[in-house]
Amino acid sequence: MKHLAGLLFCLLLVSVTNADNLDSSAALFLKNCAACHGLNLQGGDAQSLVDGKWVFAPNRDARKLVIKNGIPASGMPPHNTFTTQQINGLVDYIDAKAKAFKDNPTDIQPSAGQTIATLEKSDYTLKVQQWVTDVKIPWAIQFLDPTTALVTERPGGLRIIKNGQLDPQPIKNTPEVWHTGQGGLLDVNVDSEYATNKWIYLSYSHKLDGQNQGMTRVVRGKIVDHTWTDQQVLFEAPHHLYKSTRHHYGSRIVFPPDGYLYFSIGERGHQNDAQDITKPNGKIHRINRDGTIPPNNPFVNKPDAIPSIYTFGNRNPQGLSVHPVTGRVWESEHGPKGGDELNLIQKAGNYGWPEVTFGINYNGTPITPFTTMKGMVDPIIHWTPSIAVCGIEFYDGSLFSKWTNHLIVTSLAFQEVRLVKIEGEKVTDQEILIKRMGRVRDAAIGPDGAIYLATNGPDRILRLIPGVQ
Ligand code: HEC
Repeated sequence: MKHLAGLLFCLLLVSVTNADNLDSSAALFLKNCAACHGLNLQGGDAQSLVDGKWVFAPNRDARKLVIKNGIPASGMPPHNTFTTQQINGLVDYIDAKAKAFKDNPTDIQPSAGQTIATLEKSDYTLKVQQWVTDVKIPWAIQFLDPTTALVTERPGGLRIIKNGQLDPQPIKNTPEVWHTGQGGLLDVNVDSEYATNKWIYLSYSHKLDGQNQGMTRVVRGKIVDHTWTDQQVLFEAPHHLYKSTRHHYGSRIVFPPDGYLYFSIGERGHQNDAQDITKPNGKIHRINRDGTIPPNNPFVNKPDAIPSIYTFGNRNPQGLSVHPVTGRVWESEHGPKGGDELNLIQKAGNYGWPEVTFGINYNGTPITPFTTMKGMVDPIIHWTPSIAVCGIEFYDGSLFSKWTNHLIVTSLAFQEVRLVKIEGEKVTDQEILIKRMGRVRDAAIGPDGAIYLATNGPDRILRLIPGVQ
């Protein structure tokens, strides 16, 4: 009897202590975690912790490590001052909340387009949905038709997403890419007459056989029976101009209404080449869609010039987008330390790199005293410090009517997506739409008017839609 009473007392004590622990863990969570993961753990700026979906930490031990060490590339901060007991308590608390959430499944979002954050922005409540996971370093996204999107993966995969479902098999027979440094399979775009001609365009880092030398190459082809066929090489630089550097390939491909194909190549880490029109790197190029050179290109009559060059002095242009009304091409390029630029492309324009920049060398030394110079085109705006600006896309969809003809701007290092409002040739406002949800490489406007984002760390496609206000 005595023993039994003692046992009961102990059990009571244990359960009281557990409840106490959960309470103190709840307080700890509220203070340290709720700002990002949401008051009820269902997601906010960061993902839900109660939906049973784990991107980084599939089991309890992994969760403990993630809480202690953080995930620096994703904006999950370390909590290394917490005791083991506090961390264990937080994991217990998350488990208990997840179970309660699971027992009440009416709250659970559909898995395709599961909402991971709801954010108040000046024009809209913005819902961030996780649309597709299981992609590897997605570099570009583009819609083929109302139900099909194409995604490039930097290691080389060309993937199809049909009705929000990722086809598990990459397209067969796509070109071999040199996946090293910043190289790999880069942009994908679809001919504006795709419905009749079926052409799909790719840019990638092309390596010479048996040599560690590469350059951006542009091809087009068709997808037939899940296989890349009928490939034509549209742009390939002379092989003696290939480089052994691993970075600054650009690149984007766009089709403005003038009928030409514009694409970009970064300066491949050879900054002075950007001013040299006998070199393909550090330029925006313009070709016909079959790869031939338009006779009215600006440098076709200059001896030794690369005839496809349209502008020069571009550092590493990883964004191109066509203005929906004017049809003009806007460009974004990475500066060095500081001096990321948004430019409006004009024929034969010299965009200044490295003679003119708002940036400095990574070691802090100046590159040039000049931020502007006669005969060179100034950026529309620059971002200093660098946000590491990547893909840009004008909004022309139906869901966010207040954003019509404004620019969606993505960033790698700052892990941001910005809305950049543009009137004529001026930027009138900038707002950060999402932050710390991965490095964002590309944005596409879907046929449904949603904004689709290719992110890395975690690797996934996010979807932005307006929420209920
Ligand atoms: C500043 C924002 C922020 C704070 C504060 C924060 N987190 Fe996170 N957390 C994140 C982000 C961002 C991720 C990665 C989510 C993503 O990008 O998918 C993450 C991921 C996680 C993961 C891994 C999820 C998975 O799917 O594997 C766990 C577990 C986690 N957080 C728990 C916590 C806990 C517990 C706290 C408080 C002690 C906390 N976080 C505080 C932003 C935050």
